[in-house]
Amino acid sequence: MDIMIKQPKTDKEFQDYYELRWRVLRQPHGQPRGSERDDLEELSIHLMAYYEGKIPAAVGRAHLNSAYEAQIRFMAVDPHYQNAGIGSSLLAGLEKRIKTSGARYIVLNARETAAGFYIKNGYTRDGEAGTLFGNIRHIRMRKYLI
Ligand SMILES: CC(C)(COP(=O)(O)OP(=O)(O)OC[C@H]1O[C@@H](n2cnc3c(N)ncnc32)[C@H](O)[C@@H]1OP(=O)(O)O)[C@@H](O)C(=O)NCCC(=O)NCCS
Repeated sequence: MDIMIKQPKTDKEFQDYYELRWRVLRQPHGQPRGSERDDLEELSIHLMAYYEGKIPAAVGRAHLNSAYEAQIRFMAVDPHYQNAGIGSSLLAGLEKRIKTSGARYIVLNARETAAGFYIKNGYTRDGEAGTLFGNIRHIRMRKYLI
């Protein structure tokens, strides 16, 4: 598949980025626009995958919780492009950038339904992580960077 991964930079790229995040992670649960963001956006690394150089296909974000601990949030692949390796490529891109920041490990709260994706990518279960919107159970996961 013709996929290009890059950091969004322009206003239009960020607009597409948050739109895809909202459409995949929030809209299906009846959550309003704006609910797809938190207060760490300006301090985070954002990555976006484009299909054929222009169609937004996937997004993901990383931030540092401390000098050693990074956290990945808001991984979302457009349903048309799921199960084609794009999520894994985007995750690898985030991990590469996290490594250069000096962090030693990554944590994330995976939707129970997505835990298998993270396990395939080298993450291990680290306990329960609460429930979102009343019914989406999350699992704390972790991966040490070598
Ligand atoms: C979960 C998600 C990010 C995975 O991205 P993707 O591009 O579809 O995944 P990939 O094609 O890179 O999959 C890599 C491997 O993980 C597996 N996998 C993908 N999604 C999976 C899932 N939900 N459960 C179990 N395994 C999964 C794939 O089968 C593949 O295995 P293989 O290497 O043996 O073929 C994406 O499907 C998605 O955005 N889902 C909806 C939103 C969501 O749940 N986001 C995560 C919130 S924590």
